[in-house]
Amino acid sequence: MGAASSLDTVRTISSLRARIQGWRRAGQRIGLVPTMGALHAGHVALVKKSVATCDRTVVTLFVNPTQFGPKEDFSVYPRDEARDAALVAAEGADLLFAPGVDEVYPSGHATKVHVGGLGDILEGEARPGFFTGVATVVTKLLLQALPDEAFFGEKDYQQLQVIKKLIRDLDIPVTATGVQTVREADGLALSSRNAYLTPAERATAPVLHGTLAQVAEQVGRGEDPRAQETWAKAQLERAGFWQVDYVTVRDAVTLEEVSDASQPARVLAAAWLGKARLIDNVAV
Ligand code: PAF
Repeated sequence: MGAASSLDTVRTISSLRARIQGWRRAGQRIGLVPTMGALHAGHVALVKKSVATCDRTVVTLFVNPTQFGPKEDFSVYPRDEARDAALVAAEGADLLFAPGVDEVYPSGHATKVHVGGLGDILEGEARPGFFTGVATVVTKLLLQALPDEAFFGEKDYQQLQVIKKLIRDLDIPVTATGVQTVREADGLALSSRNAYLTPAERATAPVLHGTLAQVAEQVGRGEDPRAQETWAKAQLERAGFWQVDYVTVRDAVTLEEVSDASQPARVLAAAWLGKARLIDNVAV
């Protein structure tokens, strides 16, 4: 519905709600695309999906401090609002919500959303507090905008499952839709953090996707998931990943360990290459 020239930016929850209320009164279906900016073709795919399936698309741009650990890259996370705004405007989004930290977390803010179990494993274990930060901000954004549908990339597969779970558990009347990972021609999943790779590391990085794809194929053929995980870890280390946080075959929804591929399963991994911690996942 939107056109490139009609993109406005709002920075307060009240102005966001006022804009959305007008559309809702007109019977329009609202799509929300939460982002932290530094947009790439993966985000563009989310915006395209929302624009194609909803009457109005709101893109949020907020580098959420609560999902960064003390030693993580919050202060240097790439920020370029003008570029991001132009990109989503060109895709036909209708509104950019770019609040400041004080608008989202005013002084005295004390409530956190913690998704027990699913939010404590894998990424939750490697990055303590990460999913509580994500779950808290996504809950707030969903309640601020109350869209009909919200769009998230499958690249952050565990994040998508955590968000689906909090929506179910908290009875938030929004559908969370996963959008397929966008990849470079050599298989590397697009990520804002790929910018941290040196040219030599960039050449090695596609080994991650290649390895996961092989594991998915072998497990799909009936090979033992644990043996495949061991093989994959060795493969990544041989290629130059200096630390493999995990490479694992899990149930596609609960992310609990599986012993075969009788239920939908997912291969997920996180591994370090130079300064970049890459994550990826492939369906079995
Ligand atoms: O995936 C992201 O970019 C972030 O985790 C999200 C969902 C926008 C929450 O800050």
